[in-house]
Amino acid sequence: MDKILIDGGVPLRGSVAASGAKNAALPIIAASLLAEGEHRIRNVPDLADVRTLGRLLGHMGCQAERNAGEKGALWVRVPAAVEPEAPYELVKTMRASVVVLGPLVARWGKARVSMPGGCAIGARPIDQHLKGLAALGAELHLEHGYVEATAPRGRLHGATFTFDGQTVTGTENVMMAAVLAEGETLLRNCAREPEIVDLADALRGMGARIEGDGTDDIWIEGVESLRPIDHVVIADRIEAGTFLVAGALPGGDVTVKGCVPAHVEALVEKLRTVGAQVLPVEGGLRVVGDGRPRPVDVRTGPHPGFPTDMQAQMMVLLCLADGSSKITETVFENRFMHVQELQRLGADIAVDGKTAVLKGVPGLSGAPVMASDLRASAALVLAGLAAQGTTEVHRVYHLDRGYERIEEKLAPLGARIRREKA
Ligand code: EPZ
Repeated sequence: MDKILIDGGVPLRGSVAASGAKNAALPIIAASLLAEGEHRIRNVPDLADVRTLGRLLGHMGCQAERNAGEKGALWVRVPAAVEPEAPYELVKTMRASVVVLGPLVARWGKARVSMPGGCAIGARPIDQHLKGLAALGAELHLEHGYVEATAPRGRLHGATFTFDGQTVTGTENVMMAAVLAEGETLLRNCAREPEIVDLADALRGMGARIEGDGTDDIWIEGVESLRPIDHVVIADRIEAGTFLVAGALPGGDVTVKGCVPAHVEALVEKLRTVGAQVLPVEGGLRVVGDGRPRPVDVRTGPHPGFPTDMQAQMMVLLCLADGSSKITETVFENRFMHVQELQRLGADIAVDGKTAVLKGVPGLSGAPVMASDLRASAALVLAGLAAQGTTEVHRVYHLDRGYERIEEKLAPLGARIRREKA
């Protein structure tokens, strides 16, 4: 298991490019199951989770291979018939594999997908995914840790379905199931994340008829068949946001290329409130950390609210503010595991249920810390960059799930950061 070592206290200066969005690439790769042929998905980040989904498609009889001639290009060849099964061994390493369920049952009328189970940040149930598929006519059978879904007449039918609560992959799963269903579907109370709009764009490029993605209500008219994808994945707004926070640390001046300002509005609003300058520049955003941050309260929520995936990173900035801040995590029930690690670096944080109260401290001091989940590990890297002395972040496999060689992206900004075999 690798570890990352950081000699902190050096303000970051320069320009960094965001990679393609993990949480858009994953459902779009799964959407390739909806059509036979060679799918061309571009700007796909080179991440552990993407490789895991590629292995899963391989298990089904597809081939997912990088195109050597084009950085970020992933070609996915889908045959006329696949083995519509997602085994536990693969799903347990990446619960987002559950997004193959909708495409499989939509195209082949049956699917057997391992229940993803929970993860460090929460129970992560998929009841909304299943209720949505059932509304489209899927018969569901849960046994031995697997969901077996079948379309009784070989094809799903359109329906009106209202989600009990916003779910990103739930909206994606049911939307992908509906594009081949017979008739019209209206999905209500949908999630509105930019990754859902990107998936809908990819599906429209395949010939799907979808409107309303990015709003609460998504309308879909089912079609008989779809053609292969040719799509460029949007930039990763969470990776970009992580670099924006890095630039907002005292003394920072960082330009994040590829960042779509409309995708990070809630974060930018908070960065400006704490005193950072955030300026639109050609192809991205520039952030300047103007002295010690001011305190601000943050409450996470579904898009366009403040993203839960940026909560840990924002906490690092507020640990250094000249006053007290409150962070309320409303999306996941256990997403404060970075707190005790930040306390090891000298942060003053008290957690009470869904709320963390931070008393800003003038500085952090480096120490060995342990990553627990993807975004917590990104926060620990940011904290190490701000801290005086050396920070060792252990279990960085969490980090590699969502960040393409983060140390190679931060070093050109002046970060004294390196990866070592632990
Ligand atoms: C997606 O997870 C992202 N993952 C997560 O990013 C992100 O944190 C999350 O959305 C919220 O924005 C991918 O897109 C691959 P949800 P997802 O369904 O879809 C509850 C990262 O760091 N819920 O929107 O699994 C659920 O428990 C990852 O890249 C149900 O109760 O999240 C949670 O409390 C971490 N029943 C809330 O909804 C369901 O059927 C939101 O979950 C589904 C969800």
